[in-house]
Amino acid sequence: MNGSASSESIQKQVDQANRAFWNELCGTGLAQSLGITDDSVESLRRFDEWYLDFYPYLKTHIPFESFAGQKVLEVGLGYGTVAQRIAEHGAAYFGLDVAAGPVSMANRRLADVNGTGVAIGGSILEAPFPDATFDYVVAIGSLHHTGALDRALSEVYRLLKPSGGATVMVYNAISYRQLILNPIKTLRRKMSDPAQYVSHNETDERMRRAYDANAAGSGAPQTEFVTRAELAHLARDFSRCEISAENIGGESVLRYLSRSTACRLFGPHLGLDLYCRLVK
Ligand SMILES: C[S@@+](CC[C@H](N)C(=O)[O-])C[C@H]1O[C@@H](n2cnc3c(N)ncnc32)[C@H](O)[C@@H]1O
Repeated sequence: MNGSASSESIQKQVDQANRAFWNELCGTGLAQSLGITDDSVESLRRFDEWYLDFYPYLKTHIPFESFAGQKVLEVGLGYGTVAQRIAEHGAAYFGLDVAAGPVSMANRRLADVNGTGVAIGGSILEAPFPDATFDYVVAIGSLHHTGALDRALSEVYRLLKPSGGATVMVYNAISYRQLILNPIKTLRRKMSDPAQYVSHNETDERMRRAYDANAAGSGAPQTEFVTRAELAHLARDFSRCEISAENIGGESVLRYLSRSTACRLFGPHLGLDLYCRLVK
């Protein structure tokens, strides 16, 4: 087997593992903890209220207000909260997800709000759209699960119209959690040359599980972490790239601080998530 044939078959395995894992909607555990067991409009409203309250900064990173009449692609759909907001703001919405569950949830949401657009199954690594199709791309917590963050960002670039924008959230390799769980590896990573970065899965399942776990308690099959410098390097084809960190969890001593205080004090320095605003 030659190199490209073998990397193709490895990618197929990654996609297959992702399809199985993410078919259970991301956020299912949370929904259960809120007592949500169905997908009625009222249940989804309760889920969204919690979600948007827990991630209040989402609205500052995704320019919903500018979406009216724009063609917007969302990559990685989960429970569909963002899909519904994009459609409600008058965009022509397109959703793309490798797993079937999130696709049907997004289509369900579009129908509920009488939105324009459709969600379809497929991978961002082989996005079934021509070059320069979209005004905006939103990818929250998805590109780092694809197995190839570098190629996923190139696809986002390809799909955007000239001067089109994107909001991409990926996991921070230099967050407080990484420093606590694996300080030496994290500090080494901080010192490494970002230009040498090659997309790779986090081998420590405990680390992947600390970010995404399903109802059975397994971690996501594929998760990539990047530093700010690595992300800026991977996004070097874009004309603009602004990165900010957000999100502090409640583990260890952090449980003694309110979430809003912890996020305000430590989020910008050691937050779990990197929000990247890009312009083609
Ligand atoms: C952690 S969830 C995030 C969902 C949602 N954006 C949110 O913030 O709740 C990751 C999503 O990315 C999707 N995903 C994983 N690999 C993908 C790929 N290659 N192409 C498109 N979507 C993918 C998963 O199926 C899953 O729905």
